[in-house]
Amino acid sequence: MLLTIPQVLTPEQLRHCREQLAAASWVDGRVTAGHQGAQVKDNRQLPENSAVTHALGDLILASLERNPLFISAVLPAVVYPPLFNRYDGGQHFGDHIDNAVRLLPGTGRKIRTDVSATLFLAEPDEYEGGELLVEDTYGAHSVKLAAGDMVVYPASSLHRVNPVTKGVRLASFFWVQSMIRDDAQRTLLFDLDTAIQRLNQSGADARALVQLTGSYHNLLRMWSEL
Ligand code: NI
Repeated sequence: MLLTIPQVLTPEQLRHCREQLAAASWVDGRVTAGHQGAQVKDNRQLPENSAVTHALGDLILASLERNPLFISAVLPAVVYPPLFNRYDGGQHFGDHIDNAVRLLPGTGRKIRTDVSATLFLAEPDEYEGGELLVEDTYGAHSVKLAAGDMVVYPASSLHRVNPVTKGVRLASFFWVQSMIRDDAQRTLLFDLDTAIQRLNQSGADARALVQLTGSYHNLLRMWSEL
């Protein structure tokens, strides 16, 4: 499932991020790419261990902890500390699939990347090109969102970032190990949860709602890995 999560950051948070990123120093983006990715990757990133990366990453994680749509759709177990990239002057990232397993910085622990996330930090009219193209069985989906909005999609997807031919594309990106490893199961739980919430708001039959909610939790119990 590919899903947009609107307004992850408030305008004030976005302004703060942009100020910090404007003053930060950037390095070659290939530092976090795998062997195949490094051959097609051409962008810049903030160093993983810089103070700005940590501070802005914490701000994003704190927002996501309070975001019901993110929690319902992704069912996060472990979130990788957010990273930041920028593309300009024709930079791009060719076709690739993200690494399946990543080392959590400073912990020695590994996470499995089930869901990939891109949080857009520049407005679409600030740059030309730079679309994120994500392929699934229904074809390629082009994603270019308002600043502060985020897209989540299965980390197993082939994807790329088109060349940025004018202006600067700024984004945060990270991965999530979900409690539900399988995208189809995770999508089913999201649909069920969304329907239950709608029924709750429309004053539906209370006993039926208890049964449905129970089925949701029993499926989550059956499938979740913690
Ligand atoms: Ni990628």
